Amino acid sequence: MARLTVNGVARDVDVEPDTPLLWVIREQLGLTGTKYGCGVAACGACTVMVDGEALRSCSLPVSAFNEKQKIVTIEALSPDGSHPLQKAWAALDVPQCGYCQSGQLMAAAALLAKTPKPSDAEIEAAMTNICRCGTYNRIRDGIKQAAGIAI
Ligand code: FES
Ligand code: FES
Repeated sequence: MARLTVNGVARDVDVEPDTPLLWVIREQLGLTGTKYGCGVAACGACTVMVDGEALRSCSLPVSAFNEKQKIVTIEALSPDGSHPLQKAWAALDVPQCGYCQSGQLMAAAALLAKTPKPSDAEIEAAMTNICRCGTYNRIRDGIKQAAGIAI
């Protein structure tokens, strides 16, 4: 049994302690916007924010979390989809297949929360998520547009 606070709501989940947070989010809580890619913390498809940090939920057991920590998934990046990154993603048509993009957005949101006007180097250092469609240039432009930096 674990008690987590996900998207502002405290939830009890009946799982083994070593269950990865990703599967709790997807299977117990039904929040399927967070994706499974590699399962070994390499691709970032499963990225969520925990207390403002971008974490790869496939490789962290649910026992590593408690209800005081604020876990945020793509479903609650903003209450109504109006986060500046979501607006920029739509304006610039960032996604291709879209599979990696919820993880990309959560990583980008964590970056902008800490570094509101990131340099190219800071974007490159923070955005290590893999996109098989190769949308990297548009992701960088989307982050800059959301941050109010000239593209
Ligand atoms: S699925 Fe978690 S990093 Fe790839
Ligand atoms: S948009 Fe297809 S994997 Fe990134």
